[in-house]
Amino acid sequence: MAEPRLVDLADLTPRLRRVVDHYANRFGTLVDHHPDVFPSYTRGGRWRHEGELWTDWCAGFLTGILWHCYRRIKHEWWRDKAEHYCRLLEHKQHDRAVHDLGFIFLNSYLPWYELTGDEDKKQVVVTAGRTLALRFREKGQYLCSFIGPESLFIDIMMNVPIIFYAARETGDEQLLRIARAHCRTTERTIVRPDGGTAHEGIFDLNTGEFLRPSTHQGLHADSDWTRGLAWSLYGFGTVYSYTNDPADLAVARRNADHFIARCPEGMVAPWDFDAPEDDRIPDSSASAIAASGLWQLADLCKDPAASARYQDAALTILDSLCSDRFVSWGDPDWEGVLKHGVYHKPKGLGVDESVMWGEFFFLEAVCKALALVDGD
Ligand code: GLY
Repeated sequence: MAEPRLVDLADLTPRLRRVVDHYANRFGTLVDHHPDVFPSYTRGGRWRHEGELWTDWCAGFLTGILWHCYRRIKHEWWRDKAEHYCRLLEHKQHDRAVHDLGFIFLNSYLPWYELTGDEDKKQVVVTAGRTLALRFREKGQYLCSFIGPESLFIDIMMNVPIIFYAARETGDEQLLRIARAHCRTTERTIVRPDGGTAHEGIFDLNTGEFLRPSTHQGLHADSDWTRGLAWSLYGFGTVYSYTNDPADLAVARRNADHFIARCPEGMVAPWDFDAPEDDRIPDSSASAIAASGLWQLADLCKDPAASARYQDAALTILDSLCSDRFVSWGDPDWEGVLKHGVYHKPKGLGVDESVMWGEFFFLEAVCKALALVDGD
């Protein structure tokens, strides 16, 4: 069991700034050399390849990286690119085939709206929220995953905030009911009492009854797939920021305490906490997501000791990741920034590679820490 180490933010700051510079280099090159392409994971460090997608869920992350670069670097080139990449995604607001509309629009059109106040940008986010809500199954009370109507994914906790957003902006009580019900069903069925999570829940379509936990990307149904746990930690925290419901904060804290307790020294999680010793490769993306989610939780938590512990944990992760081992600054041939991520271990996709969500959440966490330093 690891405890967060005490990291001095002032000591870490030069490495945080160097990471941002490295993002500008790598992602400036990516959008220059491969315009209008939305890669999900690298192969041998290269973004362009013919590897299987499994599901197409990542386009918002590259766009979100461009927005982060704009906010930090404040050069119009980044804003032009971010706006251009947003426009390429606009049609997805009606996409009923995926459960990932939160990932896509909360990181693209929402920052665009927040920057400009343009009502048409907000409407795209609201429409995407309404589209996601169409996945709701009254029998069972959950939003179903792209796999099929019987399947609920833990990942959806990162997407349900777009329904809360649409409900708040429109006053639509049905959207609010759907979003709240999904959270309670997720908590009841695939969040375990110890704070661990299953990747998937399977339901009986006739009765709506929960049948069993399952997994696609974890080791097995009852294991702790670390990225799923990080999605839950971050997702329930974000939901709490909309609902103010202590039940949501309690789940996020249970997930966070479990994540911290099961992490090794330095808090870079293996791809699954239950993976055997000879298969315990890290998933840097799980820890990057957790770092950003823990940072948020530290802000949300009213208990000063818990809040300090979550921020220390986030800084411990950043301290570990902002290193020669994890950042590609010593490897000119590696096109990503954050190395040693995992996409789909059982399928052998994106194993020990850069993954676009890892890139996004690492940069987001770095920016949160720099905002504290710079008083933004
Ligand atoms: N299915 C989303 C993920 O790989 O985390």
